[in-house]
Amino acid sequence: MEHQLVIVLDFGGQYNQLIARRVRECGVYCEVKPYTTPLAELKAMHPIGIIFTGGPNSVYLEDSPKVDGEIFTWGVPILGICYGCQLMAHTLGGEVTEAQDDAAREYGKTVTYYDTSCKLFRDLPERGISWMSHGDYMAKVPEGFALTAHSDNCPNVAIADEKRGFYGVQYHPEVNHTEHGTDMIRNFLYEVCHAAGDWTMEDYKRTAVAAIREKVGGGKVLLALSGGVDSSVAAALLAEAVGEQLTCVFVDHGLMRKNEGDEVEAAFSKWTMNFVRVDAEERFLGKLAGVTEPERKRKIIGEEFIRVFEEEAKKIGTVDFLAQGTIYPDVIESGTGDAAVIKSHHNVGGLPDYVDFKEIIEPLRLLFKDEVRQLGRELSLPEYLVMRQPFPGPGLAIRVIGDLTKEKLDLLREADAIFREEIALAGEDKNLNQYFAVLTNTRSVGVMGDGRTYDYTLALRAVTTSDFMTADWARIPYDLLDRISTRIVNEVQGINRICYDITSKPPATIEWE
Ligand code: XMP
Repeated sequence: MEHQLVIVLDFGGQYNQLIARRVRECGVYCEVKPYTTPLAELKAMHPIGIIFTGGPNSVYLEDSPKVDGEIFTWGVPILGICYGCQLMAHTLGGEVTEAQDDAAREYGKTVTYYDTSCKLFRDLPERGISWMSHGDYMAKVPEGFALTAHSDNCPNVAIADEKRGFYGVQYHPEVNHTEHGTDMIRNFLYEVCHAAGDWTMEDYKRTAVAAIREKVGGGKVLLALSGGVDSSVAAALLAEAVGEQLTCVFVDHGLMRKNEGDEVEAAFSKWTMNFVRVDAEERFLGKLAGVTEPERKRKIIGEEFIRVFEEEAKKIGTVDFLAQGTIYPDVIESGTGDAAVIKSHHNVGGLPDYVDFKEIIEPLRLLFKDEVRQLGRELSLPEYLVMRQPFPGPGLAIRVIGDLTKEKLDLLREADAIFREEIALAGEDKNLNQYFAVLTNTRSVGVMGDGRTYDYTLALRAVTTSDFMTADWARIPYDLLDRISTRIVNEVQGINRICYDITSKPPATIEWE
């Protein structure tokens, strides 16, 4: 692809993905590369600029991550963030030491004063909050560098050698706590690197379609469609590119939310491709009958899914490409280098051996989630698919506590649909990252009209989170909870009590099973 490129050189900091996302939000394409990438390889990528990320190390220690010093004579602009700033200072003849007192060791929101004649801060306020997180201190700034920002405690919060295009900041401009942080990154990209801003999803769609056509040629492509955002967008993109050469297998395990299966099928009706919907509800429910242990449920569903997919794949015969909806965070988290291994993701590296194919194709491999959604819009996928909240692979099976029956699943589907409808009507969906209903295995006594009831208790779960690793229970307005409760108990026969889950994660998890 012929976009301009910025390299985010990864030194193992926790916000590295965020830096890359910010760069792309500014309309500039970037890729995250481990700091160990040979300089020749970086040069061959022809970047217009490089951003050194933060990292957990101290630059003056012997085995801390370093760069080839030649990177500074290459002539490419560099922005160093936190560790990246200290590394630049250290390598170019400055001095970085452990902060001797608490004043020099800064953490958290810090009032910062900027020199707005520096390109990095051009047209921005002279004073603002920045987010600091460093225990080391630049005792001596390298020759040729000017001090361009300071705080009440620290004289050299930012440094710049504008002649060479080198900038360093001790704080994190990529996090939201830093006021105008994204504007500073934008200034680096546009004022220093002279970016053209040529990264748009419309453009990406065009080049990706062309690239897929070239790669696939006259070959056959197979994709397992789950109905989630990633596989749906991958399906739409591939359908746009190769039409009938694509077969999408949509395994409907009967564990989806109300109308979801039909919605997925309808969304793809406008493309010419082979769309196979396998109605496997009975098969899955049969296997799951009487199973109450959550991990066993997951395992059975995972295995059965593979079996059904495999049977369909066999009908198609040998395919040339197996497509997967892997996205960029999966790739980065799987470790682009030794500094970045957070977890290994099942989508990357491990190829399924149950389908006969020659090559894997991952058309979303370089996109962040919000870019995937944007691409989905470019491909005219409906908004309800593009904005779909995360949904676990095992589906409603892990939201019906205890053993599963079709009746229980139907009760849950109705109640969950009402919950989601009311949340959307109130406009609360924008404030929530995930929300759903859970059918507990508890029944309790109630009174309706003049009669006694002995029905199920339903739990409502709604959380806010940025990474789904930790989450806070959402403070939904009482009046809205009241409306939801009244509607569910009135409209769904078999549920007579509603609870709202007020535990955060940790100690609870988001799902109940
Ligand atoms: P927990 O319950 O672990 O969930 O706090 C965190 C996020 O992961 C989703 N989740 C799953 N997603 N397969 C998936 O694809 C699964 O087995 C699974 N279990 C949980 C959950 O919905 C939440 O977004």
